[in-house]
Amino acid sequence: MTAVEWADYPLFEYEKDLARREIEALVGRDVLSFEAQVDASDAVLLRQRATYLRAVSGGGISAATAQAEVEDLHRSVRGRKTKRQSTRFLVHGLHEYKGKFNPQLARALVNVVDPSCTALIDPFCGSGTTLVEGLRLGLEVGGIDKNPLAVWLTGVKVDVLRASGEDGLAGRHLALSEKITTAMDLAQSSGRAEVPQGVEAADEAYLRNWFPQEVLAALWAALDICYREPSLAADVARVNISSLVRSISWQMPEDLRVRRRNKDWTPPRVADLFAVAAAQAHLALREVGGAAVVAGDLRAEIRAGSSADAETVAAVVPDGRRLVVTSPPYATALPYIDTDRLSIVLLGLGSAVDIRRLEQNLTGSREWNTGVARAWAEAWETNRDSLPSSVLDLLGTIQASNERTDAGFRRAAVPTLLYRYFSQIGQTLDNLAESLKVGERAVFVVGTNRTGKGEGLVEIATPRLLAAVAATRGFRVDEIIPLETWPRYGMHADNAVNSEDAVVLTVEKDQGRKARVSGSLGRSDKTSA
Ligand SMILES: C[S@@+](CC[C@H](N)C(=O)[O-])C[C@H]1O[C@@H](n2cnc3c(N)ncnc32)[C@H](O)[C@@H]1O
Repeated sequence: MTAVEWADYPLFEYEKDLARREIEALVGRDVLSFEAQVDASDAVLLRQRATYLRAVSGGGISAATAQAEVEDLHRSVRGRKTKRQSTRFLVHGLHEYKGKFNPQLARALVNVVDPSCTALIDPFCGSGTTLVEGLRLGLEVGGIDKNPLAVWLTGVKVDVLRASGEDGLAGRHLALSEKITTAMDLAQSSGRAEVPQGVEAADEAYLRNWFPQEVLAALWAALDICYREPSLAADVARVNISSLVRSISWQMPEDLRVRRRNKDWTPPRVADLFAVAAAQAHLALREVGGAAVVAGDLRAEIRAGSSADAETVAAVVPDGRRLVVTSPPYATALPYIDTDRLSIVLLGLGSAVDIRRLEQNLTGSREWNTGVARAWAEAWETNRDSLPSSVLDLLGTIQASNERTDAGFRRAAVPTLLYRYFSQIGQTLDNLAESLKVGERAVFVVGTNRTGKGEGLVEIATPRLLAAVAATRGFRVDEIIPLETWPRYGMHADNAVNSEDAVVLTVEKDQGRKARVSGSLGRSDKTSA
């Protein structure tokens, strides 16, 4: 008889490795072998925290793990029989934010890297996967994202999680959704789009340009109800609206950027799509109602802003023993703002006039104007931000390959864009090192990607390069854990990521920074060196 049982679905090799490591980190020894025994206190700990185990028995205790319970609950509420890892349990499926993290991975990394931390920080929190897992583990959380939609979604998920164990929310959301569905139907039939209070003229014009009149009528009628009766149920209804937006606008839904559909497209009934989204959300709320999550009054500080900004980072870092777990944007990242721009404006989370500026300021953005591009080209020329030679070497290789293959202007910009990316990541690392104590740890999960084509194809080994930058920003690099990649993005996969790694760091403060000052070489210095 074994003391622990594996999860009842197939695990990737990297998950099995993480499972072994988390057991070791939690109870100090390997208990996977046949004859291993666990005592009651270890059984309780493993039951509460282990990610990839189904059940634990020892010291008179025999129980399913908390993780197996939520995944089972998810399957039973959804009526699913298949045994696959579910990544959309509890609040994780409320919105399909682009580039979402695997929740099990976030949980396992906390257990492996610092099981005794009391607070979890995600400086690129997106829709809050890591922070939700932090709250489930009883940790205080702090998060930052530049995308106002992401910050708002995270806040709603946190609030819903706090309502765990309370049955009323699912019922209130259901009643509200029925009211909204009826109002949407009426409004779409009448085609009269009445602008809700508080919408600026520029935003109204923007929305009228991007939605057919009768669709906007339905959306505004729904939002009007949400604004008149503000509540958590109304917030969830707005999340459901956000999930629809891309499929009912003039924007090509499969396109992450801004291309318009063909003029003869006929919009569907918005109420029907909303009803489907609301039914899915209802199931999620039932799951949350039925789960025993202890998010309670744990502190959650989530800010809209840039993690390259020192004050913003300092503001979200709680006291206690802190751990950072994050999946930052990749070098030459997804256009997170452009993808969500209609939701941002429709839900009043940002103004149409801010969209371009927000997109340009994302870490990994490919958008900039000539002045900014020139300033970054100069920064690269002088290595203004003291990036390590491994990064400069890569930029040189890409530049040489571009020259050889006569690359167009988009590809020609890549080395400078990468200089900006690694500088901004470096700034975030600097800010974290400043706010954390020596010995506290951080994990960055990031993938390798590629630029160019054919003979000009160059690999951007972001994990290794990020580690090199971290070593000059107050961190020691402990290890780079290889992870197999699940298809995170699906489309736009030309230069997509085929491997992802977890870069594990420990704060050392000054050692790394000294290396940066003494070891930096400008691009021109390097050529002559
Ligand atoms: C890979 S996604 C994170 C997804 C998240 N783990 C989740 O599960 O939803 C990277 C995020 O970084 C955000 N981002 C980009 N630049 C940023 C910056 N300078 N400061 C904070 N967030 C930024 C993007 O808006 C995006 O949400």
